[in-house]
Amino acid sequence: KTICWSPSAAEKDGYKHFMLKEIHEQPRAVRDTLRGKFIEGKVVLSDLQLQLSEISDIRRITLVACGTSWHAAMVGKYYLEKYSRIPTEVDIASEYRYRHKIIDRHTLVIPVSQSGETADTLAALKEAKIMGAKVLSICNVLDSSIPRESHGVLYTSAGPEIGVASTKAFTTQLAALYLMALYLAQERSQLTTEQIAGKVVDLEAIPAAMESVLQDGERYARFAERYHNYSDFLFLGRSYNFPIALEGALKLKEISYIHAEGYASGEMKHGPIALIDENMPVVVIATPSEVHEKIVANMEEVLARRGRVIAISTDTTATEAVADTFIVPEVPEELSPLVNAIPMQFIAYYISDFKGCDVDQPRNLAKSVTVE
Ligand code: G6P
Repeated sequence: KTICWSPSAAEKDGYKHFMLKEIHEQPRAVRDTLRGKFIEGKVVLSDLQLQLSEISDIRRITLVACGTSWHAAMVGKYYLEKYSRIPTEVDIASEYRYRHKIIDRHTLVIPVSQSGETADTLAALKEAKIMGAKVLSICNVLDSSIPRESHGVLYTSAGPEIGVASTKAFTTQLAALYLMALYLAQERSQLTTEQIAGKVVDLEAIPAAMESVLQDGERYARFAERYHNYSDFLFLGRSYNFPIALEGALKLKEISYIHAEGYASGEMKHGPIALIDENMPVVVIATPSEVHEKIVANMEEVLARRGRVIAISTDTTATEAVADTFIVPEVPEELSPLVNAIPMQFIAYYISDFKGCDVDQPRNLAKSVTVE
């Protein structure tokens, strides 16, 4: 019997692709990102190097990023506004760098980047600094250009990400943004110590919830067999999971070369509903939330038009007519994006693999875009 061995297979730890390995590393990556950040009941982010006076001085936050990091930043806006109560906007770095933005010394700019080398994000950061903003980055690569140019940094601990399509970097960015929001809320006395402690407990429970979704890979593989031939997909989500719908569509485009659109499901009636028929599967993120009834209504609108609904849900009772339901464990709504990201990754991964695409190195894409 011969044993097949190659250096690259060894690095993949027995997984077929780096992307699959990295999807499975997420519970570990999130745990590592949280490690050492809670000391004696307080959120401690010392690498941010922020004085209390500077924290009190912040009047506005702008998150800037590209690609998957931009989707993380969009979730970050929900976190920062909810907990720190500081008005927050999100911008695509290539837009932000050229627009007539308003920045002063009360503005906090947060670039979010896995690589720390994305040209547009770096340029946006430099612009903001020149105009007087305080810059604190969220980054995965130690001592890369973006953290070096920033006043402070919060590192994610995803470890090296090889697959071009970002997975574990994304969920660790979500965890980092949540930490950042709790930290600002704590320092500005927007949340009590007890409230912070409760949210920390919830956050620390997320890796275990992720692990349970990771056990379902086979189900997604079988789904891919039935769905790889569709040429268009729609992804819908609301609130914290609207950016996750965008991310689901992006992943599918990137690695499966299937046209997909992500939409805030409340926007469906303003356009995409015209596209719905039995040939366009609609993935709906329908985990428990304040807007759950609205999501169920959106699913019914799709079904009424003979659309094929694929639901991401904590139970099978959302609505009976859905074609497929992927069950995920119930976690607090705010943290559900970290769990719901995994079904998005699995759908794209298994369809890409079934189609025989180059999962780790999709055509025309680069891991790190260092030119404009
Ligand atoms: C490229 C990668 C994406 C990534 C984006 C931003 O497009 O293919 O996966 O999300 O760049 O990269 P960054 O390193 O700044 O997060």
